Amino acid sequence: MVEVIVCVGTDCSYKGGLQIYDFLEHDPSLEGRINLATAKCFNRACKPDNAPLVSVNGKIIGRATLDKVLAAITEG
Ligand code: FES
Repeated sequence: MVEVIVCVGTDCSYKGGLQIYDFLEHDPSLEGRINLATAKCFNRACKPDNAPLVSVNGKIIGRATLDKVLAAITEG
């Protein structure tokens, strides 16, 4: 099971974090493959330049896009 934590703090939400979370939550192909959670803020690097941030198995992805997150999930 891949641990995925999506930051839904202000900067990250504004920059697309919520859409990433929404996709991951509702994609049936990910069911049973990921443990999905949210964080209010990772308390680092949350400047707009780096948002949104998503953690996949403890590795923080900056300027996260759905493609980057899905690739990280596939790598495990
Ligand atoms: S708001 Fe997302 S890391 Fe701070």
